[in-house]
Amino acid sequence: MTLQSRATAELAAYLEQQGDLGLLRFITCGSVDDGKSTLIGRLLYDSKMIFEDQLAQLEADSRRIGTTGGQIDLALLVDGLQAEREQGITIDVAYRFFATNRRKFVVADTPGHEQYTRNMATGASTAQLAVILVDARKGVLTQTRRHSMIVGLLGIRHVVLAVNKMDLVEYSQARFEEIAAEFAEFAKQVGIPNVQPIPMSALTGDNVLQQSRNMPWYDGPTLLSHLETVDVTSDDTAKPFRMPVQWVNRPNQDFRGYAGTVVGGKVRPGDRIVVLPSMRQSSVQRIVTFDGDLDEAVAGDAVTLTLADEIDIAAGDVIALADQPAEVSDQFAAHLLWMGTEPMLPGRQYLLRIGAVTVPAEVTELKYKINVNTLEHLAGKALDLNELAFCNLALDHAVAFDPYEQNRDMGGFILIDRFTNATVGAGMIAFGLRRATNLAWHKLDVDKEARAKLKGQSPCVLWFTGFSGSGKSTIANLVEKKLHALGRHTYVLDGDNVRHGLNKDLGFTEADRVENIRRIGEVAKLFVDAGMITITAFISPFRAERRMARELMGEGEFIEVFIDTPLEECEKRDPKGLYKKARAGKLANFTGIDSAYEPPETPELVIRTQEISAEDAAEKVVAMLRERGYI
Ligand code: ADX
Repeated sequence: MTLQSRATAELAAYLEQQGDLGLLRFITCGSVDDGKSTLIGRLLYDSKMIFEDQLAQLEADSRRIGTTGGQIDLALLVDGLQAEREQGITIDVAYRFFATNRRKFVVADTPGHEQYTRNMATGASTAQLAVILVDARKGVLTQTRRHSMIVGLLGIRHVVLAVNKMDLVEYSQARFEEIAAEFAEFAKQVGIPNVQPIPMSALTGDNVLQQSRNMPWYDGPTLLSHLETVDVTSDDTAKPFRMPVQWVNRPNQDFRGYAGTVVGGKVRPGDRIVVLPSMRQSSVQRIVTFDGDLDEAVAGDAVTLTLADEIDIAAGDVIALADQPAEVSDQFAAHLLWMGTEPMLPGRQYLLRIGAVTVPAEVTELKYKINVNTLEHLAGKALDLNELAFCNLALDHAVAFDPYEQNRDMGGFILIDRFTNATVGAGMIAFGLRRATNLAWHKLDVDKEARAKLKGQSPCVLWFTGFSGSGKSTIANLVEKKLHALGRHTYVLDGDNVRHGLNKDLGFTEADRVENIRRIGEVAKLFVDAGMITITAFISPFRAERRMARELMGEGEFIEVFIDTPLEECEKRDPKGLYKKARAGKLANFTGIDSAYEPPETPELVIRTQEISAEDAAEKVVAMLRERGYI
């Protein structure tokens, strides 16, 4: 079972057991130094949500290794559970459950270390409230600002500013007010409207559950009473109706229903609806559930809708009210938080999952990075682990969405690495970009087939890849000469040449190479469309972009030719003296020296230049074209 699903199962069991108490999901932000573990421990302990055996262990541990002089060390409770959990798995977020007789709680606890921005984002994405801890002695720190920024970005509108360790500042009202005022200013900037500052001491319990006798000047709520009573209902039902279709339920000829969870608004039988992105309209016939039909489905309900008309709906489509449709576009601007260990490179393809749909997508422009500590905007070409940016994205096809601010479920997305399937980014849509939605591929009367027929050949791209100096250009040149002699229509796109014009603006960083190959892929596609046998000679070091180029072409049109010359040999040949320069440290990011080359895994053809001459290699390529019927 995955961690997430285990947590979900535990949660389901717990909620069952707790009956119908209201539920508050919150996240705690702060570091161990701020007293976070002690605070969570105290909430769990004082609300009696610790199991007996854990309690016995805790008492024993406290005597043995506690830092509280024989008293129960609540931090051990949290940290102890943590150590246990972390065996063998890297855990991002731990969910803990506790309840009082007024409410039940799910606390997302995340490691507080500076680098774990992504863990925080994971925990915060479902939270309704955040408890941000500060140490009264230290006040608002860089990390406090970072936590607030992410909390605001992820749409949490309620924050408790827990000014902890008041016992260490002599319960000073002035100090508390100073911190509260400074934070209020910052909270405004990052879009957090509701802040409740509470002076407390998690260690002594002051203002956690019990009103503090040491701070008579404070007449606000204790932490727990605030958590028990705070109104976090964002009134999802008042939003426009949205339901992403999870699956189409078609048990027999007579029934066709669309199953999903309502993520905004409400719907009733008879309501006029629109299906996005197809824009087809119908009206709701029935709202079906396991327990019979409903008169109304509201945000949070899992239901199956049947419609009055037979229209084509697939999993991933969104059903909305016809007079309040969601936006539909294949491009939008969004905040993107990077969670991948490999950097995000604009132009590289990822899978984007939003609602119930997954589509290939790329960042087309990294507009600026955001320093999460200072909110400063910075220029950047790539995004590293834990970094945040504002970007434009382009998707393979249009999807339905709302700005994240209006609906977290409709505006939040993740990016997935196409090779490892790991989640590498979390995004929040700011607004749609309509610039390209009115473009359609213009269908010309003379098409690829017609052009190819006239030339008497099947167009394709011979995609050469290999180290600099491996022989790509030499062999490409010979192949073209031979094809030309045979009366074939050809064109060679060569790295050094294209970089003189079209790609003059690109260097050799990873980001630039991705963009280089993305453009070449697009240009090669146009050449194939023109009916040409196209030969590309680029190092094209990364699998992801070669794969992207392959997917741009039609079936059988992409022929990957690996010019397999080992690095040592290329370096020995060093036709342009570049290896020597790179070794001398005079040329940075040189492929094979300090920039990666990922050899093809299943190329159509491998040429080992140490075993055959360039002439024979070219002959081999031409022979393959002949055998496979391209010429
Ligand atoms: S790619 O990696 O983006 O595919 P491309 O094939 O266009 O590279 O360009 C490679 C050519 O640029 C090399 O053959 C070499 O002549 C030149 N070059 C200059 N600097 C570098 C570098 N740092 N790394 C690799 N090639 C370089």
